[in-house]
Formats: sequence, structure tokens, C-alpha cells
Amino acid sequence: METRIEIKLTDITGERVDAIVNAANTSLLGGGGVDGAIHQAAGPELLEECRLMHGCPTGGAKLTRGYRLFAKYVIHTVGPVWQGGKHNEDELLADCYRNCLKLAQEHGIKTVAFPCISTGVYRFPIERAAAIALKTIDENLAGSGVEKVVFVCFDEVNHRAYLDRV
Ligand code: APR
Repeated sequence: METRIEIKLTDITGERVDAIVNAANTSLLGGGGVDGAIHQAAGPELLEECRLMHGCPTGGAKLTRGYRLFAKYVIHTVGPVWQGGKHNEDELLADCYRNCLKLAQEHGIKTVAFPCISTGVYRFPIERAAAIALKTIDENLAGSGVEKVVFVCFDEVNHRAYLDRV
């Protein structure tokens, strides 16, 4: 089964998919950027559930419900903070995409939207992050049962970085 890959320039909170991925921090207690937007759109119950998760390690992923979002689930993942490239950042970013797909498979999630993890506050180089995202998803889709992956960009630079690689 061929998985659909879409690249969009939009706000991820409006995506009509089974799960949207949140670029969270290790506390899982919310923040700015896409984390703030998702909590804002999902409503206060999301934070209540997150409080029960006891955080998430960098590269890890945890699932919650989506509450007021269209998406049934939110997959919270914690990207690496860019520290120059010699602190295993590439591998940890790849772990985010791998672990999100693993959770999607475990929960029968068929359509999932990813933001550009780590490319905001965490300052991961944009082209490098796009290449890792596309490669990791491509390498891990087989057997996942996922039918559609949407890469949601929020700015033109990220959008261009994805469009130039597909
Ligand atoms: N929809 C889609 N993408 C968005 C949205 C949105 N509503 N808002 C921001 N983004 C994009 C940013 O433009 C960036 O390209 O998400 C990408 C990730 O940026 P951040 O949200 O800053 O996340 P990240 O760089 O992974 O840093 C995570 O930021 O918000 C805090 O709590 C979060 O501490 C954590 C840190």
C-alpha cells in the first residue's frame, strides 16, 4: 500500500487527521510555538492528561487524546535542542519521527500530521531537519499501517526545505 505524503504550509491545529504531532518539551506541560497552539486549540483537558504522563525524554513520544481538536490523538514528542551537531542531535531527531510512527502503528492511527520538530525554539537547522524527517519517515513507513503523512510547515523557509527534497 502506497502511503500518501503531503507537504502543507498551514496551522497544524486545523488538520483533519487521526493524530497531530506536538513538538513538546520534556515536561510535557506546554510551552510556546506549536506546543502552545496545540494546547490552546485542544483545551485544558489536554494539559490535565499531560500532567499524568510524568514527562517524556528527548527523542521519545507519548500519546494523549486530542479533546477539542479535530484529531482524535496528539502524539507528543520532544525534539533535540541544536547544540552544534556533535551531541547526537540528528539521531535524536530521527528517534522522534520513528517513535511517533511506532505509536501510530500501535494505536491503529492511519493519518498523521507532523510539525517541523526542533526547528523553532530548539534552533535545529531547517534543511538538515527536513532531510532527517523525510528520510526517517520514508525508512519506517513500511508495515506501520499509516496511510497518509502530512508535513505541516508554518513558514516559507521550512516549506521550501521540504518541497526541494521530495
Ligand atoms: N502549526 C504548525 N507549525 C507551527 C505552529 C502551528 N500552529 N506554530 C509553530 N510552528 C512551527 C514553528 O514555526 C517551527 O517550524 O513548529 C516548528 C517547531 O517550532 P517550536 O514550536 O518552537 O518547537 P521546537 O523548536 O521543537 O521547540 C520546542 O518550544 O514551544 C516550546 O514547549 C516547547 O519547549 C518546547 C520547545
